[in-house]
Amino acid sequence: MKVSRINPVFPNHQNDSSAAGYQPLFKSFATDAIHVGSEPEQWNSRAVVPPISLSTTFKQHGPGKHAGFDYSRSGNPTRSCLERAVAALDGAQYCLALASGLAATLTITHLFKAGDGILCMNDVYGGTNRYFRKVAAEVGFDVSFADLTKLELLKAALKPNTKMVWIETPTNPTMKVVDIKGCSDIVHEHNKDIIVVVDNTFMSSYFQRPLALGADICMYSATKYINGHSDVVMGLISLNRDDIYERLKFLQNALGAVPSPFDCYMCNRGLKTLHVRMKQHFKNAMAAAQFLEADPRVDKVIFPGLPSHPQHELTKRQCTGCPGMITFYIKGKLEHASTFLSSLKLFALAESLGGYESLAEHPAIMTHASVSENERKELGISDTLIRLSVGLEDEEDIIADLNQALAAAVSISVDLNI
Ligand SMILES: Cc1ncc(COP(=O)(O)O)c(C=O)c1O
Repeated sequence: MKVSRINPVFPNHQNDSSAAGYQPLFKSFATDAIHVGSEPEQWNSRAVVPPISLSTTFKQHGPGKHAGFDYSRSGNPTRSCLERAVAALDGAQYCLALASGLAATLTITHLFKAGDGILCMNDVYGGTNRYFRKVAAEVGFDVSFADLTKLELLKAALKPNTKMVWIETPTNPTMKVVDIKGCSDIVHEHNKDIIVVVDNTFMSSYFQRPLALGADICMYSATKYINGHSDVVMGLISLNRDDIYERLKFLQNALGAVPSPFDCYMCNRGLKTLHVRMKQHFKNAMAAAQFLEADPRVDKVIFPGLPSHPQHELTKRQCTGCPGMITFYIKGKLEHASTFLSSLKLFALAESLGGYESLAEHPAIMTHASVSENERKELGISDTLIRLSVGLEDEEDIIADLNQALAAAVSISVDLNI
């Protein structure tokens, strides 16, 4: 869906960031989240809440003459409402909604053909890694991986056939932060036709606008913070380039991995409170990260909002804050991590992230089991690594739950050596 007005990007921020040292918040973010795409005037009924348009087909005035929609895979009024809102929040002209984050990844990859090179950040969501290695590479894409936190490695990894560079930042699960502007500049200086994609799932558009930092495409698993209520699986793609949009719009229809109108309605509803939720996720995660960092039962905490994070300064330079994602290494062995996870009462032991509820998981056994053991070792996805998605519950209850689960972990009889 093309958006009728281009939203402001970096130069027009209002200067009211609550988080000192970070980029100022994006101007009119909340107003846009609530109003863009939901204008009552677009409906004869003047419904304030966009209706769910379930019809799969639309009556035409004459053959080939329709009122904006012909068939629901090609376009749907409820989907358009969501796409317009997300484009506004990303400072983009265009947005496309897909059936899942991985459907968005697949659709983007179809911009290219067998033999083309795809360079991917080495630490990405396990499903993205699995798709590139076990599906895209199998059908002839030349897939390679590099640690894109090191710009000199990026330079060395670009090949004559490279067509796409895939960045995820912060990475899932080890929370490495990639310099989006630094990477985009290097890639586009090397060859302006290489498409830089940023998976912005962890930060959401509230904390990071990749397009303003030089990326060509911003994608989401909207299943996470964008929807925010753990009840929709969806993907989103935002961009400004007309030529890529036309091809992606064709692919959205031609591949057909589109979300249902009901899911679009739900996701648009979730989006209305993105700004309120993200602020609280940041506050709760900061408190939890500080608690864990000070605790002797914890080896190491990785949270970009902590000054101890190796790319904390970069995070402040390219983001307006941090989401609720924390990774930490518990002291001990797999048994301690397992006992910690099964002792949590408020945090649910479950995959996924970005919902209002706190979740915890074990990447090596759960979300990143499809990543090979060697690769996991190289990336630091060890048996003692735990990933938290800190939710919106009361801060003291979140910390009390972490505290009691750590106590349960140290009480088991395996030697801890604290
Ligand atoms: C960073 C990231 N990107 C992409 C995906 C894939 O999205 P989906 O599960 O909506 O297909 C996930 C899922 O966990 C993710 O965490």
